[in-house]
Amino acid sequence: LFAGTADFTAAAPSLGVLPPMKGVEIAFAGRSNVGKSSLVNALTGRNTLARTSHTPGRTQQLNFFDIKGRLTLVDMPGYGYAAVEKAKVEAWTALIHSYLKGRANLARVFVLIDSRHGLKSIDTDVLDGLDKAAVSYQVVLTKGDALKKSEVDARIAATRAALAKRPAAYPEILLTSSRDDRGVAELRASVARLLAE
Ligand code: GTP
Ligand code: MG
Repeated sequence: LFAGTADFTAAAPSLGVLPPMKGVEIAFAGRSNVGKSSLVNALTGRNTLARTSHTPGRTQQLNFFDIKGRLTLVDMPGYGYAAVEKAKVEAWTALIHSYLKGRANLARVFVLIDSRHGLKSIDTDVLDGLDKAAVSYQVVLTKGDALKKSEVDARIAATRAALAKRPAAYPEILLTSSRDDRGVAELRASVARLLAE
């Protein structure tokens, strides 16, 4: 599925201009700078597909990427970036909420969490929203290369415990790195299973 082409389809600054639905859609959400755009690139094997940056707040729109007409990847703007002014936060929240509720082909939201920091309260707020809206999501721990080996199991266990009673959470937790590609094959497999459903 991920061998070969991936094309940028559209950037949606507002809901009026979302591209038409194509195949199964999956979205990548998470705090600013957690590594969403980098993971989209790692997943597709295309390093310059989604724009990445050291500066949080790089991705400002919903960016749609088409994989062979069968799968659409959505790189979402990050949340929790303090320097974004209030009006922008409200516009962001409105865009995200209507997108998450209204997209019939959205099969799963991958919620990315920095493996060094674990779930923050802003993340649990987002998970609350997804549970409430009954939008299926899966947690992916990012930047696994930057976590000490001895800390990996404890971080996964703590995350699993935090998700245990959440109705819309998919039970499998992935630990990935866009630097050394760990967990990327598992993420691809998880996406492939969604397409087979
Ligand atoms: P916004 O669009 O601003 O919300 O950020 P984002 O979540 O899309 O993050 P992005 O992919 O732009 O990466 C942010 C920073 O984290 C960049 O400096 C990346 O090089 C770094 N980064 C991304 N993935 C990894 C990873 O797996 N390991 C490490 N060590 N750094 C990473
Ligand atoms: Mg980004």
